[in-house]
Amino acid sequence: MDSKTIRKKYIEFFKNLKGYKHKEIAPAKLVPENDPTTLFTSSGMQPLVPYLLGQEHPEGKRLVNSQPSFRAEDIEEVGDNRHTTFFEMLGNWSLGDYFKEEQLKWCWEFLTKEIGLDKNKLHVAVFEGTDDVPKDTESYEIWKNLGVEDEHIHFYGVDKNWWSRSGPPDKMPAGEIGGPDSEVFYDFGTPHDPKFGKECHPNCDCGRFLEICNSVFIQYRKQEDGTLKELPQKNVDFGGGLERLTATTLDTPDVFKTDLYVPIIRIIETISGKKYEENAEAMRVIIDHLKAATFLVVQGVESSNKLQGYVLRRLIRRSVIKMRKLEKIIDEHDVVAVCDAIVEIYDGIYLDTEKDKRVISDIISTEVFRFTKTLEKGLKEVEKIDQIDGKKAFDLYQTYGFPVEITEELFKEKGQIVDREQFRKEFEKHREVSRTASAGMFKGGLADHSEIVTKYHTATHLLHQALRDVLGPEVFQKGSNITSERLRFDFSFNRKMTEEEIKQVENLVNKRIEENLQVDHIIIPLEKAKEMNAIGLFNEKYADKVSIYGVGPGFKISPDAKDKRLRGGYYSLEFCGGPHVEKTGAIGKIKIAKEEAISSGIRRIRAEVVLR
Ligand code: SER
Repeated sequence: MDSKTIRKKYIEFFKNLKGYKHKEIAPAKLVPENDPTTLFTSSGMQPLVPYLLGQEHPEGKRLVNSQPSFRAEDIEEVGDNRHTTFFEMLGNWSLGDYFKEEQLKWCWEFLTKEIGLDKNKLHVAVFEGTDDVPKDTESYEIWKNLGVEDEHIHFYGVDKNWWSRSGPPDKMPAGEIGGPDSEVFYDFGTPHDPKFGKECHPNCDCGRFLEICNSVFIQYRKQEDGTLKELPQKNVDFGGGLERLTATTLDTPDVFKTDLYVPIIRIIETISGKKYEENAEAMRVIIDHLKAATFLVVQGVESSNKLQGYVLRRLIRRSVIKMRKLEKIIDEHDVVAVCDAIVEIYDGIYLDTEKDKRVISDIISTEVFRFTKTLEKGLKEVEKIDQIDGKKAFDLYQTYGFPVEITEELFKEKGQIVDREQFRKEFEKHREVSRTASAGMFKGGLADHSEIVTKYHTATHLLHQALRDVLGPEVFQKGSNITSERLRFDFSFNRKMTEEEIKQVENLVNKRIEENLQVDHIIIPLEKAKEMNAIGLFNEKYADKVSIYGVGPGFKISPDAKDKRLRGGYYSLEFCGGPHVEKTGAIGKIKIAKEEAISSGIRRIRAEVVLR
């Protein structure tokens, strides 16, 4: 089966379930806005956290979608037949509605009937329990009643059958949610490789089994004192990797042999004159990384030394290196051809051939061009080294992106060998640092972070309206980004703001904060929200009902404000999923630190908030 069919079947299956119709929700952006706790959307549940915690979702309690996801922490794993940094996750959710019985039944029905997997090849895993959380005998019984044989049901502990964004319970920061899960594995029946342990089992890494989906029963929240507390509602969070599911319908363990990759392989084979079969590792890295880069660029990420930009740079550089491994020096035309093939696979789904091809190719090929120059410089540095060692080899890898094999190859002529062990140690040290850096995005616990974010977020709404009041209603939000230190707000306006205007906006926001205005969450039909003149970024393409936030009910528009449109009796009224503070007084005081142009007609404000 091809991926389009599977994606469609899945969404339709859940949308049409008798008595349990799900609502399809638009996928979230790969780079989440206003969420400093994480760099990327790495699972379908991530944008739904407030709703899993109990906030009312405008589309109800049963949701379904397919979410493009990115996991930077897997970057070093890419190259085998199943790991990718970019993937699509089919997801369905019960927000305190149905639970284990229904979920496992539908999951089984989807796998065995809708996409026709052979049930004899499926194995399931169930949570074996801890001192605090009971063994999941309920799921075990459900699987048995569905006809899964005892030998195909396996029990695992917190390392394998517990899911939260930060791993097992002891790794969860205070405020994080999670719970036991039940996965389904596909058995390719290949012989076990004893290198991975004596006995083969579904979680063995020898490649015989492939995890294809996971039903998480999100039912707990980590407390400040380290204990787990039951959430007020029991949720289901299902995730199934589209690439892997597609591969299993073809009975191949290699996800790159699906329609989500094959057209890209063909292009690279043509460019390099090499065959996939003999060069699978290098080609997989090139394809995965350029695909991820494509999706990041489309979302406005530009290559840089920081955060998402740094990850984008690494992805592109690693693919250039792998291209060289294919004895092909990649040039901008090659990159354009590869990116075009990627866009075509997702044309009309997440990408648009007409609109996106150019910008993607421009940004990626510029980075390739720059890196090629850096590499050339690196080769000159290599000539200066008299004696290579593991540390120097790592420096070359780090600064110029030289893989250790290339360094070895250079120095072979001089009769020198690279101390691989020393290289590995340096590498691990660095990996630890970058892991901690991304794990640091969770540092301090989501609960703390989200409190700061919530304040900044409400401040952003006030800023948006204040800008319109001072400059005129042509001002419109173009993007925003919040870290725990500052807020950044991009808006349309075609000239530099005067000092006077900046001061006016700042004062206006601070005035609204001092007035301690109430913030209301309203869920209404889209048409009604438009009638009320709600503003903001609205890109939810499937919604019947929308979520809007109103700040300051009963507000009278002041005669000197340039934005005279009534906003349902609120000072600010915006399309937004929240969360927000209950009263503006909780925010503190804002200070605009900078106002600058970022592109033609788009300005950017950086502001700090002196938090209470
Ligand atoms: N959130 C779970 C996962 O990522 C299931 O969607 O596996």
